Amino acid sequence: MGMRDKYRKPTTFRCNAGSRCSMSAVVWSLVGFLLFLHLYSLFSHNGGKDGEIQFHSSHHPLIRELEQVEEDNIQIPPPRGKRSPRAAKRRPKRTTTLIDEFLDENSQLRHVFFPGMKSAIDPMNDAGNNSFYYYPGRIWLDTEGNPIQAHGGGILYDEMSKTYYWYGEYKDGPTYHAHKKGAARVDIIGVGCYSSKDLWTWKNEGIVLAAEETNETHALHKSNVLERPKVIYNDRTGKYVMWMHIDDANYTKAAVGIAISDSPTGPFDYLYSKRPHGFESRDMTIFKDDDGVAYLIYSSEDNSELHIGPLTEDYLDVTHVVRRILVGQHREAPALFKHQGTYYMITSGCTGWAPNEALAHAAESVMGPWETMGNPCIGGNKMFRLTTFFAQSTFVIPLEGLPGSFIFMADRWNPADLRDSRYVWLPLIVGGPADRPLEFNFGFPVWSRISIYWHKKWRLPSVWRA
Ligand code: DGJ
Repeated sequence: MGMRDKYRKPTTFRCNAGSRCSMSAVVWSLVGFLLFLHLYSLFSHNGGKDGEIQFHSSHHPLIRELEQVEEDNIQIPPPRGKRSPRAAKRRPKRTTTLIDEFLDENSQLRHVFFPGMKSAIDPMNDAGNNSFYYYPGRIWLDTEGNPIQAHGGGILYDEMSKTYYWYGEYKDGPTYHAHKKGAARVDIIGVGCYSSKDLWTWKNEGIVLAAEETNETHALHKSNVLERPKVIYNDRTGKYVMWMHIDDANYTKAAVGIAISDSPTGPFDYLYSKRPHGFESRDMTIFKDDDGVAYLIYSSEDNSELHIGPLTEDYLDVTHVVRRILVGQHREAPALFKHQGTYYMITSGCTGWAPNEALAHAAESVMGPWETMGNPCIGGNKMFRLTTFFAQSTFVIPLEGLPGSFIFMADRWNPADLRDSRYVWLPLIVGGPADRPLEFNFGFPVWSRISIYWHKKWRLPSVWRA
């Protein structure tokens, strides 16, 4: 026997002195162990209600249409004008990306990202076969024929009036730069409110919280910043409570503002602004859980992390409880929602008005820990997916009667003319095929996939519309 054979591993193991276990015994023990782990992981997952086990189920035929993957190919146009070989040598041409084209007011592709008035969605005229279609990125008209002004917005479903209310930044003013290096801005005009029964036809209810024109020390003075207003209803006090991001033109105040009203259509009374828990707070949202407890979620510590904490019972302040989440991940534009006991959140990266990649996160408890799952965008093309379809998250609307189906609301900002920023509404589905299905979770939660499907044109299933 040569040296090699002498030291070759035996195919049987010595279990104890003198006795030999066959390889098959070991394999079977391993199989048994893995089977045990599998069953354990199925039964220990408490994502479902009352301990009910959650399986990845194939969706209802009604929403299959929403899950269809639509490709979209945008070609970057060839550079305009000829460059002399000398010029090309001196300054080699920078490669243009689609984001450059998107941000370039003079791009030949402008109409692709910001189609003109001719293709506007007009629910008052698009009746019949054309009704209820969403066209992400097109101008969307209200019932009076004016473009909807509700940017960075959110939706409240009012049980009393069985009506949806869309609140957002009313930005119908000139865009300018307060300083050479400052971000593009529009003076505060106020919070716009629109009402709808079908999430498609929106009636302008006016500005429900207006800017302060004269008092320069007021948080709502027009020279400041009011962004991402969200409204929830307090069942105990019977008040509608609005939370928003309040800042100065340089974004150094980093605070929240709170306003209150007896009616969803306002007027809202501005109460005060503050730094929640003493921390910087920029992009933010609020989330009302099924048990009536509401939470504030905000980007903090120079946008490097998010903070989350419950509001007081009257929703007019934060409590002393707060958790740091997604620490070091540099996320903003949080949009939170819940499905079958699990909390989900979509966030964006921090690149000012320029679009970037969305990420989906999940948690078993709203206070965390939160886990980052990856980019939820599907379809379009790679650039679409890497830019959240050239938009930024703002809110996720649950669709009553279609469990697991939501509308993802995003803003396609137009930094050259912020009032002309567009709305990108797309179906968001929880569940469905996971990219990398896990065989075993070893007791750790198995999250459902979050998918946001690109569609040039889509509408909610007829049952829902009815
Ligand atoms: C990104 C934020 O998400 C927006 O709400 C706005 O604050 C812009 N930054 C300003 O650059």
